[in-house]
Amino acid sequence: MTRHLITSAIPYINGIKHLGNLVGSQLPADLYARYQRARGNEVLFLCATDEHGTPAELAAAKAGQPVAEYCAEMHKIQSEIADGFRLSFDHFGRSSSEQNKALTQHFAGVLAANDLIREVSETQMYSPSDGRYLPDRYIEGTCPNCGFESARGDQCDNCTKQLDPVDLINPYSTISGATDLEMRETKHLYLRQSQMKDQLDAWIDSKADWPVLTTSIAKKWLHDGDGLQDRGITRDLEWGVPVKKGDADWPGMEDKVFYVWFDAPIEYIACSQEWVDAGKGDNWQRWWRTDAGADDVRYTQFMGKDNVPFHTLSFPSTILGSGEPWKLVDYIKSFNYLNYEGGQFSTSRGRGVFMDQALEILPADYWRWWLLSHAPESSDSEFTWENFQSSVNKDLADVLGNFASRVTKFCRSKFSEAVPEGGEMGAREAKLFADIEAGLQDYEAQMEAMEVRKSAAALRALWVMGNEYLQEVAPWSTIKEDPAQAALQIRLGLNLIRFYAVISSPFIPDASASLLTSMQTQEQAWPDDVAMALTALPAGHAFTVPEVTFRKITDAEREDWQTRFAGIRT
Ligand code: 2FM
Ligand code: ZN
Repeated sequence: MTRHLITSAIPYINGIKHLGNLVGSQLPADLYARYQRARGNEVLFLCATDEHGTPAELAAAKAGQPVAEYCAEMHKIQSEIADGFRLSFDHFGRSSSEQNKALTQHFAGVLAANDLIREVSETQMYSPSDGRYLPDRYIEGTCPNCGFESARGDQCDNCTKQLDPVDLINPYSTISGATDLEMRETKHLYLRQSQMKDQLDAWIDSKADWPVLTTSIAKKWLHDGDGLQDRGITRDLEWGVPVKKGDADWPGMEDKVFYVWFDAPIEYIACSQEWVDAGKGDNWQRWWRTDAGADDVRYTQFMGKDNVPFHTLSFPSTILGSGEPWKLVDYIKSFNYLNYEGGQFSTSRGRGVFMDQALEILPADYWRWWLLSHAPESSDSEFTWENFQSSVNKDLADVLGNFASRVTKFCRSKFSEAVPEGGEMGAREAKLFADIEAGLQDYEAQMEAMEVRKSAAALRALWVMGNEYLQEVAPWSTIKEDPAQAALQIRLGLNLIRFYAVISSPFIPDASASLLTSMQTQEQAWPDDVAMALTALPAGHAFTVPEVTFRKITDAEREDWQTRFAGIRT
């Protein structure tokens, strides 16, 4: 049994996430967590809300709420929506927790003691009209790298380059629009990542099995231009983790907080402490401290490509620089972007389908299936309503749903609502067993490799095998001459339904659960032995015909949704 620590990038608190956010981190992480649990491994799956920094302050200001109150409310909302999508976090924490505050200050203290933090006197953008400094998202302008006109002060959404507000061309305040900005001298802390460059380089080199998307981004930051730069880790904001060295004050830093990207990944660890403090677990150290057994843990992180530099360079600098025995990530699975109907999904611009809206129109499994089977792995991918309709109708309704419905209804009408006694298996059944065994091996290999699209294709191929078998042996004809043979075919069909419910549960957990309920069994051990798994339901075992497992999306619905989601969410 392996122990899997799995984290999803923690979503910003600034509103309900869209489907592009979901498919870039939380959903594939959930797929992997569910799969590893189904295989009998021990899993700790963590996520949280990213509550500090300018995204939180700006969103609270827009909502007209105090930021702490806004974060508490939005955390609850995000948590409920995560439940709606059946994201099976062992804990959904908050980066504003006391645990994260203490741990962030602890890391800053040890990094300072190891001479990895320097104090820098620098010029920052100050807005006299707003009476404040304008860090990160309080400022926007043209990206000096790619020319994108609404690049944020901390990062360009278009080319993913990490930016400094002073780099922006034609900068303006996002609070007031003011352009009369001036540079003022102030003191900040910098993490001396440049000192860690060789160590990070060697570490990335040792990860030959990582996705190219992950390593190429890391290598770019390590080697392009002047190489890895030191990174400012403090900000002139009120909301955030106060700058301290452990418990001790940091002279000159009294009005500052840590940069959100410094404390956010630390929340992965703090979240496990929250999990223990919430009474859901009793030992976080065995997941995170190599001096407490975490060497045996396999740690996998999931994230969108814009997050890669922070997870391959900045957070590892914190961990390695501490000199303490913390667990480092073993595998980083990163994703490209999902686009929406010919443009980008955008939270700030309200473009696309948001998680709450998606659940209002269809249950989670429909979305989980489409998103995962179209995950933007090797390149960006695109959501279109046509594609969504056709995938749902073909894969879920025609292939899986129809199989379950045909087999059970036929059995009820010709035999009874119980698995029929049948004849001997023949050559066609032997072929089916062999095909299923090979198909299952392929599915398992793709799931282990976190090849999300290929896993979906392999699963669908297994569903198709059942349909093809049924089509070929045609029990509705066989029954006329050889009822025992038809009974055998249907018995196998009913067993296939249970088998599909078990192996499909990482993708479509609700449908899996309801198919198991219809089959009146809770036997969901992973089918290590296919022949046994396909004979698990014996003759006489009662079942009920499932309600419609997946319904089809009509053209009228698709057109209606196309219109409804064409505009901008306000
Ligand atoms: O891009 C984002 O949504 C960030 N909030 C992700 C943070 S991941 C981590 F480091 F905590
Ligand atoms: Zn850019």
